[in-house]
Amino acid sequence: MAQIIGGITTSHVPAIGKAIAKGLQDEPYWKPFFDGFGPVRHWLAEAKPDVVVVVYNDHGLNFFLDTMPTFSVGAAAEYRNADEGWGIPTLPAFSGHQPLSWHLIEQLVEAEFDITSCQAMQVDHAFTLPMALLWPEQKWPVKVVPVCVNTVQAPLPSARRCWKLGEALGRAVAAWPGQERVLVLGTGGLSHQLDGERAGFINKRFDLAFMDSLERDPTWACRFDTHQIVEQAGTQGIELLMWLATRAALGEQVQCLHRNYHIPISNTASGLMLFEPRL
Ligand code: DHB
Ligand code: FE
Repeated sequence: MAQIIGGITTSHVPAIGKAIAKGLQDEPYWKPFFDGFGPVRHWLAEAKPDVVVVVYNDHGLNFFLDTMPTFSVGAAAEYRNADEGWGIPTLPAFSGHQPLSWHLIEQLVEAEFDITSCQAMQVDHAFTLPMALLWPEQKWPVKVVPVCVNTVQAPLPSARRCWKLGEALGRAVAAWPGQERVLVLGTGGLSHQLDGERAGFINKRFDLAFMDSLERDPTWACRFDTHQIVEQAGTQGIELLMWLATRAALGEQVQCLHRNYHIPISNTASGLMLFEPRL
C-alpha cells in the first residue's frame, strides 16, 4: 500500500523565484527564509518520497475568473510552468503520476467531492517555487499530482470542507495498491493581503496560533468561516486552507519535526512546517 511519509506546509511568493534566479539566498533579507529549508531538505534526502501531492491554489495561470472549479486534480503526463507576469524564470516541467491521479480523482468523487479532472494543466508559482525550495537543483526526483483549491473567486470552500478534503485525500492515498512513498506539500499563506485598504496586513499572533494548532488541535481553524479567516489573516491569508488540507491528510497524530516563521517575505508572513504522521 502507498504510504504518506510526511507533510510539508509552506508559503509561496513570486519574489522567491527572483531571489533564486539572482542567487540572493545568503543576503540578510532572504537568509532567515531560505535557511528554514535546510532541515527539510535534510529530511527529504533521508525520506526519499516517490510522489508529491501538491495542494495549492492557482492564481490565474490555469484557471481564470470565468471558469473556476472549487477543487481540481491534475491527471496529466506532464505539468508545465509559464510566464505569469511576475518576471520570474519558468521552471522545468514536472512529470505526473497519472495512475495515482485517476485513483485520487475516483476516490474523492466516491467520497462526494465534485472534482474537476484536468488532463492538461499549467502550474503557477504556488506549485513551482515550493518545489524549487525543496529541490534547488530543479531536477525533480519525484512524480507529482496537483490538487488545486479555489481561493481567488467567491464562493470559496470553507475551512471545514478543506479539512475533509484532506482527510479524503489521506484515505485515498492509503487505498492505492502501489508501494509509493507519498509526500503531501501544501502551499499558501500565512497572513497576507495584497490589495485594498489593508494591503500589507500581517497577523503574527494569529499565524503562530494557527501553526500551534496544527500540532495540538488541528481542527481549530475549522471554527472560522471564510470572512473570519480573511479578517484574521488578510484576503490572501485564506491560502492557509492548503495547510489545513495537508495536515488533515496526515491523520490524527503527527510529529512536527521542524518549523520556521519569518516576517515578511514580500507582503507575506512566511511559514514552514514539516510533519511526519504517527502511525
Ligand atoms: C505574494 C504572495 C502570494 O501568496 C502570491 O500568490 C503573490 C504575491 C506577495 O507577498 O508578494
Ligand atoms: Fe498566493
